[in-house]
Parts: sequence; structure tokens; C-alpha cells
Amino acid sequence: MTTPIVALDVDSLDRAMAAVDRLGDAIEWYKIGKQLFTKEGPAVVKGLKDRGKKVFLDMKFHDIPNTVSHAVLSAAAIGADLCNVHASGGPAMLEAAAKAGAQGGITVIAVTVLTSLDEAELAAVGISRPPAEQVRLLAALTKQCGLAGVVCSAKEIRLVQETCGTDFLLVVPGIRPAGCGAGDQKRVMTPGEAAAAGAQFIVVGRPIMAAEDPVAAARAVTAEIRAAEERR
Ligand code: C5P
Repeated sequence: MTTPIVALDVDSLDRAMAAVDRLGDAIEWYKIGKQLFTKEGPAVVKGLKDRGKKVFLDMKFHDIPNTVSHAVLSAAAIGADLCNVHASGGPAMLEAAAKAGAQGGITVIAVTVLTSLDEAELAAVGISRPPAEQVRLLAALTKQCGLAGVVCSAKEIRLVQETCGTDFLLVVPGIRPAGCGAGDQKRVMTPGEAAAAGAQFIVVGRPIMAAEDPVAAARAVTAEIRAAEERR
């Protein structure tokens, strides 16, 4: 089953809660990123939990194992349901994150290679492997270290499934319903395509948050997912 997560890419707690209240029961899961969390902190998580929502805290932790372990426990303590780390933090850090996740009762996934990094950017930080091979290596490492899944782009779904199997959690951003402009996203997938490909979660920001009627846009995304699931 594919679940939409709405990216709360706004700059204040008030705006975030207004969006959540407007969407009501059309959306259960929300993603809080660095912009909103840095400014408003745990109050955003609390606001969502008070409304019965699920929270993906998108902080992409990347530090020494002890620090990441405590950060994951903190994410769990404030009520987040899902959080993430950078797979390039290495095996000891990933294992510490997985252990802390199990202890705190929070699902932990990893980011493999940021989609903003191309071959030249990777080469500049000493990685000479093509980006897809780096994604494969880091996805396999993430799984070996006991994490639940990865954030991956539409174009990486098949590669990650080949490497890690279909039970591995895939959280896929870069989603654009049919008829929506791609904007700054380079490679996009519709909600139906992502559901057909087996993504457990899709992250949708502007197509819902910036829609004239966000509730209708959210319901259309869910309907598209359900239709694709019925065809599977
Ligand atoms: O508005 P839009 O649907 O493009 O928002 C997508 C969300 O997913 C944003 O919060 C963005 O930071 C995040 N994201 C992404 N591409 C990635 C990883 C995360 O767009 N590769």
C-alpha cells in the first residue's frame, strides 16, 4: 500500500497548522524539514501529534555514531514516527541509528545520494563511481546495517528493489500528479506510477500545498494511488 506524505515546506508553525487543519482527514502523514524544524522545533511535531497525525522528521542526521544515536532517540522522544540519516555516515553510524530506532520505537531510513549530486559533484568529494552505483552500494549498506529503507528518487526505485528486495521501505519524493508542472524537479513520477512501482510512501509538497484547493488535490492523489493499486 502506498501512503502520501505531505511536505510541510512552510516557514512558521501557524502556517503549518493552518495547512494541516485545512487538509483535515484527507492526509495522515506529514514531513517536517530543516527549514520549519530549525525555526519552530518540537512544537510542530506536537501540533501534528495533537491532531492525530504521523510525522516524518526529515533531518538527515550525519554525525558520529554516538551523536546520531542520541538524535534518533530525541526524534522518538518528541513523537516523530519516521526519521532519516545519511547512509554515507558509514556502517557504525547506521548500526547505531538502527539500534536507537528500535530502542525508541521510531522507524529509521537513510538518504543514499542526494539528487542534487551528479557525477562531477561526487568526483569533487572523492567518489569516482557513477551516482547509480553509489546509490546501489549505500542502499545495500543501509539494509545490512538494519535500517528499514531509503529515500529514493523515482528513477532509483527499480535499482533499489533489485538490490534490497521489495520489502525494503521506499520513500519517494519528486511526485507530480498528471497535469501538474514538474517545476524544479528533474525526474518526476505520478502518484499512480509510484504506487504501481511499489513505493510504500510518496512525498508530495507543492502539488498539494500550493494547490488552489488542497483538499481536492490531496483526495485526487489518494484516488490515483488506489486506482493503481487495484490494477496491480
Ligand atoms: O514540492 P515538492 O513536491 O517538490 O516537495 C518535495 C519534498 O521532498 C521537498 O520537501 C523536498 O525537499 C523533498 N525532496 C525532494 N527530492 C529529493 C529529496 C527530498 O524533493 N531527492
